Formats: sequence, structure tokens, C-alpha cells
Amino acid sequence: MKQTTVENCKIIDIRKYTDNRGYLSVIEGGLDIPFEIRRIYYLYMVPEVARGAHAHKQLQQLLIATSGSVDVIMDDGKSKKSFHLDKPWKGLLIPSGLWRDLENFSGGAVLMCLASEKYEASDYIRDYGEFLAYKNGK
Ligand code: TYD
Repeated sequence: MKQTTVENCKIIDIRKYTDNRGYLSVIEGGLDIPFEIRRIYYLYMVPEVARGAHAHKQLQQLLIATSGSVDVIMDDGKSKKSFHLDKPWKGLLIPSGLWRDLENFSGGAVLMCLASEKYEASDYIRDYGEFLAYKNGK
């Protein structure tokens, strides 16, 4: 999706069930998020480095800081929008076709990603110039 913009990213409030035993949050593919979940991965024990720095041509994702916090900077080639993920019930829905940088992982942060597709290296754009050309239809 070449036409997506940072305005198409959305913070969602993940369903939670609370009682005196604590919290339980749940995400069902196709119900709470607009895609079926084909893969889950998570980043943890991240030192003071930036990660991400890529875009996906097709992949859609939901990012959740299940522990700690992280900044996600989304970029559509024209505008940037920053999201601070810091709650296990706060998810960032990312449509395809957007560049993302992951920064400022707090100590103990765990960033979980629910993805719409299996891992496919050819779906990645890792060069920013190539990303701009892709967005401009070149
Ligand atoms: P990478 O894409 O560099 O991480 P980041 O989220 O910071 O952009 O992935 C690191 C390594 O993990 C790379 O060798 C590819 C591998 N990997 C898989 O094999 N399967 C996966 O689902 C993912 C996300 C990564």
C-alpha cells in the first residue's frame, strides 16, 4: 500500500478484563484488529540502540509494549508521527507501506508484535531512499 500515511496509524485500547485477580487483555485476529494473526515476535533486552528502520510493502502489525515503554516514530515520506507505547493495553496498529523507527526502549521493555503475515524478507524495504521512491510510485 503505497498511499498510506501516518494518519492511518491508530492507537487502540486493547480489551481488558479486570477483577481482584488483576488484568487480562485479549486480542482476537479479525475481531479486535483488522487482520488475522499469522506471526508473533517480540523484542526484549534491547540496549540503548534504535531498531526498526524499515517499511513493509504488505505486512500489517499491532505493536504493544507489554512491559516498559518504547517510542515508535512512523514516517510516510512526507510526515512523521511519534507514538509512546507504555501500557500493556495500548496497541499501535500499523498499516502497510510506512517506515518505522523504534527508539528509547526503557529498561525491561518488551515490545510485542502481532503480524498479518509469516516472515518474508522480500516484504521489507530497509533503505530509506528506496522507501521514498516506493511512496512516490517509482
Ligand atoms: P530485524 O528485522 O533486523 O529487527 P528489527 O525489528 O529491529 O527491524 O530482525 C532481526 C533478525 O531476526 C533478522 O536476522 C531477521 C530475523 N527475523 C526472523 O527470522 N523472523 C522474524 O519474524 C523477524 C521479525 C525477524
